[in-house]
Amino acid sequence: MFFTPQDRLFVLTGAGSSAESGLATFRGSGGLWNGHSVEQVATPEAWEADPELVWRFYSMRRRDALAAEPNAAHLALAQIECDLTGADPENFYLCTQNVDDLHERGGSQRVHHMHGSLFQSRCVRCNKPFTDQSFYETAAALPTCATCGSPVRPHIVWFGEIPLDMEGIYRELNRATALLVVGTSGSVYPAAGLVDVANRRGIRTVYVGPEEPLNARSFDEILLGTATAVLPTLA
Ligand code: OAD
Ligand code: ZN
Repeated sequence: MFFTPQDRLFVLTGAGSSAESGLATFRGSGGLWNGHSVEQVATPEAWEADPELVWRFYSMRRRDALAAEPNAAHLALAQIECDLTGADPENFYLCTQNVDDLHERGGSQRVHHMHGSLFQSRCVRCNKPFTDQSFYETAAALPTCATCGSPVRPHIVWFGEIPLDMEGIYRELNRATALLVVGTSGSVYPAAGLVDVANRRGIRTVYVGPEEPLNARSFDEILLGTATAVLPTLA
């Protein structure tokens, strides 16, 4: 076993872990949407300027995620969680930057979506997230809050916004014995800085992906290969 039942494992995943389920990564080829970079549709400024464009983007991502299935990497992470949590369910924590629900559908239990969830929306004023699988693709269809009438937005953390529950993330990392990072380019902070927090504590850090991330030098071990090729070998 790559990790032992004595480990308390913190896993960070990025778009690469869903790539083999057919969901495009952000910065690779195909990482554009109708000629728009992700920054042009995933910022508070984009929302202010053109909520219809933003909702069309997230409606398309909902369609893609609904059509996708968990892959062998998602299943392997669920297996690792199962193997490590016999004694204590808190011995495993999966922090994902992904907004799809493939980790949950792959069987993972303790999942935190630091960049929000594709299948939740929230009123810009009431701010309470709710489950939402609808598509909003025309100006006339844009959703409004049943309580206060304000616009409803995707429950997604956009560029310039603060990721969800950073306190919980640091608490988990501060008691982990190992950090496993899968399929993320290491270019978006604070996620990309979690490996530095782990290094300050001297815990083992492992990266899995087909190419080195930008912060490759911060890792103890780099296992080069796709998520579905490598993760099943760690389970
Ligand atoms: P990126 O698109 O920046 O990086 C994807 C990473 O996945 C790259 O390092 C690829 O090498 C790797 N990769 C590609 N195919 C893979 C495979 N089959 N197995 C494993 N790895 C593979 O995506 P993220 O790092 O996740 O934020 O991007 C971080 C954040 O930027 C996202 O959460 C999103 C985006 O803007 C928000 O939406 C707020
Ligand atoms: Zn409201």
